[in-house]
Amino acid sequence: MPHQFILNDVLIALDDLAKATTSVQMAFFDPPYNIGFKYSDKVDDNLPWDEYAQFMGDTFEKLKPILAANGSAFIVHYPESCARLLPIIESKGYRLHQWISWVYPTNKGHGKKRFTTAQRTVMWLTHRECEKPLFHPRGDPQPYRDPKHHRVKAQLAKGLTGAIPYNWWEINKVVGNQHGGTPEHQGWYNQIPYKLLKRLVLSTTDVGDTVLDGFAGSCSMYPVCLDFDRNSILIDLDPASQDIFDDYQKVK
Ligand SMILES: C[S@@+](CC[C@H](N)C(=O)[O-])C[C@H]1O[C@@H](n2cnc3c(N)ncnc32)[C@H](O)[C@@H]1O
Repeated sequence: MPHQFILNDVLIALDDLAKATTSVQMAFFDPPYNIGFKYSDKVDDNLPWDEYAQFMGDTFEKLKPILAANGSAFIVHYPESCARLLPIIESKGYRLHQWISWVYPTNKGHGKKRFTTAQRTVMWLTHRECEKPLFHPRGDPQPYRDPKHHRVKAQLAKGLTGAIPYNWWEINKVVGNQHGGTPEHQGWYNQIPYKLLKRLVLSTTDVGDTVLDGFAGSCSMYPVCLDFDRNSILIDLDPASQDIFDDYQKVK
């Protein structure tokens, strides 16, 4: 089945996938950030740090048996939380391959105590023993800055369409209608932009590979996988997330 939705707790779903000897080339985690956000009544987003850290560690531990040997796992979070979570994830047998910054211009989140938060971290992890994960450096190239430069002209003449992306990506957040609206918005809180997911998918998977999204939310991973011929496994414990998936399936 090229695309499936699993309505369950991510820890149980990952156990079941391991029992079924599933293999995924890429896993993406955009978990609750433990900042007291009101998700469905199934999620407590205000856990003591130790409990939250244990949950994230368990999630990565349970991913281990199903992530391909040269596969990639990504987690999106605030940089401060990533700094604290990294040693826990490493202790589960992972290696940090790259620290990527997703920066977004924003008019929200101003405060008097610190600078405005306008970035998140995307940690790219591999199995500890994997030195070379599958990677297509120009899978989703960034446009050349100066197409008139003689070296760039030579690259263009060779058929290249852009440069290998930097390790920081400026991509606008997806916003709802009350903030001006982004066409892809599904009415979900914290929806991850198509552009960001597209970059991860095209850079670390091949056509026909399977991508897992452990906290599917608005099922933002689905249209990317559909458009680029990847299989998807989406997990979320909120039935409203499954409704979005079912609606996507109807218009397929
Ligand atoms: C930050 S949102 C994900 C948003 C998503 N990446 C998107 O682009 O729409 C976190 C999601 O995790 C789900 N969630 C929280 N705890 C979970 C758990 N233990 N197992 C599965 N899903 C969970 C929530 O229901 C919520 O949809």
